[in-house]
Amino acid sequence: METAVQATGQPKVLRRTDYQPPEWTIPEVKLTFHIIDETRVEVHATLQVERNGDYALLPVLALNCHSSIDVQSVQLDGILIPSSAFERGADTLTLHPSKPFFRLDIAHTLRPKKNESGDGFYCTGSGMVTQCEAHGFQKIIPFIDRPDNLGIYTTTILANKEKHPVILSNGNECARGDLPDGRHTVTFKDPFRKPSYLYALVAGDFDVLEDRYTTKSGREVKISIYTEKEQLHKCRYAMESLKAAMKWDEERWRLECDLDEYKIVAVHDFNMGAMENKGLNVFHTSLTYADPATSTDTNFENVEGVIGHEYFHNYRGNRVTCRDWFQLTLKEGLTVFTDQEFSADMNSRVLQRIDDVRMLRSRQFGEDAGPNAHPIRPDEVKKIDNFYSATVYEKGAEVIRMIHTMIGEEKFRQGLTLYLTRHDGQAVTCDDFLQAMQEVSGLDLNQFKDTWYAQKGTPTCRVQQYYDVDARTLTLTIEQILPHAGDRPYHFPFAMGLLGADGRELVNDILHVRERRQSFIFSDIPSLPVVSPLRNFSAPMKLDFDQSKEDLRFLMMHDGDGFNRYEAVQRIAKQELHELIMLHQRGEGFNARASVVDAFGSVVAYANEEPAIAARMLQLPSLDELVQDMEVYDIDAAYEAREFFIKEIAYAYEQQLLYLYYQYHHTGEYKKDAASIAARSIKNRCLGYLMTLDGKYADTALRQFGEANNMTDEYGALILLCDETADIRDGAVGAFYSRWRGDALTFNKWVTAQAFSEHHQQLLPRLEEIEKLPEFNAKTPNCCYALYGTLAANLIEFHKKNGEGYRFIADRIIAIDAYNPQVAARFAREFDDFSKLDGSRHVLMRHELERIRDHAASANVQEVIGKILEL
Ligand code: TRP
Ligand code: ZN
Repeated sequence: METAVQATGQPKVLRRTDYQPPEWTIPEVKLTFHIIDETRVEVHATLQVERNGDYALLPVLALNCHSSIDVQSVQLDGILIPSSAFERGADTLTLHPSKPFFRLDIAHTLRPKKNESGDGFYCTGSGMVTQCEAHGFQKIIPFIDRPDNLGIYTTTILANKEKHPVILSNGNECARGDLPDGRHTVTFKDPFRKPSYLYALVAGDFDVLEDRYTTKSGREVKISIYTEKEQLHKCRYAMESLKAAMKWDEERWRLECDLDEYKIVAVHDFNMGAMENKGLNVFHTSLTYADPATSTDTNFENVEGVIGHEYFHNYRGNRVTCRDWFQLTLKEGLTVFTDQEFSADMNSRVLQRIDDVRMLRSRQFGEDAGPNAHPIRPDEVKKIDNFYSATVYEKGAEVIRMIHTMIGEEKFRQGLTLYLTRHDGQAVTCDDFLQAMQEVSGLDLNQFKDTWYAQKGTPTCRVQQYYDVDARTLTLTIEQILPHAGDRPYHFPFAMGLLGADGRELVNDILHVRERRQSFIFSDIPSLPVVSPLRNFSAPMKLDFDQSKEDLRFLMMHDGDGFNRYEAVQRIAKQELHELIMLHQRGEGFNARASVVDAFGSVVAYANEEPAIAARMLQLPSLDELVQDMEVYDIDAAYEAREFFIKEIAYAYEQQLLYLYYQYHHTGEYKKDAASIAARSIKNRCLGYLMTLDGKYADTALRQFGEANNMTDEYGALILLCDETADIRDGAVGAFYSRWRGDALTFNKWVTAQAFSEHHQQLLPRLEEIEKLPEFNAKTPNCCYALYGTLAANLIEFHKKNGEGYRFIADRIIAIDAYNPQVAARFAREFDDFSKLDGSRHVLMRHELERIRDHAASANVQEVIGKILEL
């Protein structure tokens, strides 16, 4: 079992305010790994241990030591400690030192082949690799495995040269040699002090793509990307993205790469997306490979974004790290903000913002409203793995963004520089970051910290406007609706504009809101203006502002803020969808109002000017977003309303959509410039609408599917064809399978497309067939995400009235938990909506939750399920 569950069955709760500095630290670490084979690795660890605090007092030294580590011997300053003089707990190795400084030599054995948790030292197709964040290092070395224990690491690896020609660890290679019986050895020294979670070791057979980058001051950085064999051509985009990220970090934030060697290893088995180990990032292949034939435009974007993300951690997390894991958002919120800005500068700022906000709303808002909600800096944690969440990452990034919005680029950059120089080489807290921002800007951030870092839930910002004709003033009243009794009002930037009747901008301002209810008066406003609220989504809140459809249409046409032009369309759609949902709930027939459908006519027309933005505008609010606002989820009503509305638009604008489709359907040579990407996005959106017209355009989709010379178009068509009648669907599914079954990532796309189908009569039996295919492996997290994650996101299927969706996912959670609790716990989060379900679904889900509670023993799953069932 992965974690120690206490005798009571409940894992221990850790509290943020209980922080104590470590009693001992390990400033120097020397490791030797003899890789015998995948079943056995002999490790020798030499640790310089030092009392941290009063030398006269010598507390016990409890090293974290996972139960899977087979300890052979422990020496203290070269003298063997009898096993009677140390205790082996479930996950500890306790010693009783009698001096404040000493050297420990520990010899132990690891069995990577047995480790299927994706955490610690484990096997993947092309070799063996480590994953240490947050607590994987204690599965490799008995250690003080906490981020405020910083040390210098030297690693020597010995392995069979043929089987493991590539052996890597953090830092610079400082020795290499051949050994008898076909083995070789390499030694790496990492010159930077680091916490154990940034440690990495890799051994295997990889191809390598090499390049170099010269920093602004002339330092040469050698870059190597290691991948499975024959895939180097797919890594060129990752390489270009990395060099671009290095340059961008220099130019925008004056941060120069501090490394001589920067290595990236791409593997197929990885629990998360990628990991920022110092100088030796490990990536899942889906975030490294980018190739038109097998990658969609979104895949390319993700590669660029995540390559940037991990690189930006090199300062934001690695040079300055977290004191304890409650501070996780210190590095993650800041780094997500940074990668969003990188992508915005590399591509389109408006599109980036639209996509980031859409993701925040569909994933984070839901999390924040459910039983597993937590502040970006949580107060209580059982398994920190469960807090690598949309809240810590995406809402955390919004919180950093608000600081940037309030103090501006220049002060923000000064604050970042101050934070990074003042705390270089230290393990610090969110308070230290805020302190630096406050010092350079003079802005008091106390209320900001006490709310955004401490309170969970999404606040609502209610806006009212009053125009006084005689005084020529406009009064905006902003009221905060707080999700819990006892919540304190937030301090946030409300970016806004006022537009005159001619569309001219009269006001463009950032209001600082600090009170529960606060009014702002604008004078000299000649006539009733149109308010553009919460521009660029300046705070992660819900907006409650009753603007007329005319005003919204006006904003859609004239707002100087690109995000709000998009947002106006979303708000029109949402208003309409809510009305349709009410009609459905009252048992009345649907009828869409012409004026609303009309508004979408303008969007369709706008596709000629700004195809990429129009493609987003035409994407209606997601089903997740629609049900979020309901007391009791009425998934059927939301689904029917959304389908009806889409069809309504398709009927009304069939000719225009078809025209746009062909206008943007370039059959010539594939290109990856912004205009071509925009063309593919609007074209595929138009096809999506047309495909709702009952089979009329199935041939168009089939043709695109058959003739596509890139994965964006091929996969775009496949997704749509999966919603068609069985013969059409099966034909496309069969063709795609025979074409791409040999390519693991594309196989996963094929799985995703099917798990997402909406009109499949036999979806679960079909998914069970897929599970039996030789290409599917439930031990590979990405296969699971493609199948189970997609099914759970397919709300109609997951929430089937007979409960079979719940049962299906519960069975998989129980099975996966036996070997990979981190992944199992991610799927357990799919039951977060429990308390919002109608009576019969509630009963069915309760049954599955109780089954999971009784059969999935890991602390990871228990923490998630415990919170859901308590509600
Ligand atoms: N720190 C990583 C990132 O944000 C996330 C990560 C990678 C991770 N692997 C993990 C977190 C395993 C927990 C467990 O890029
Ligand atoms: Zn990160």
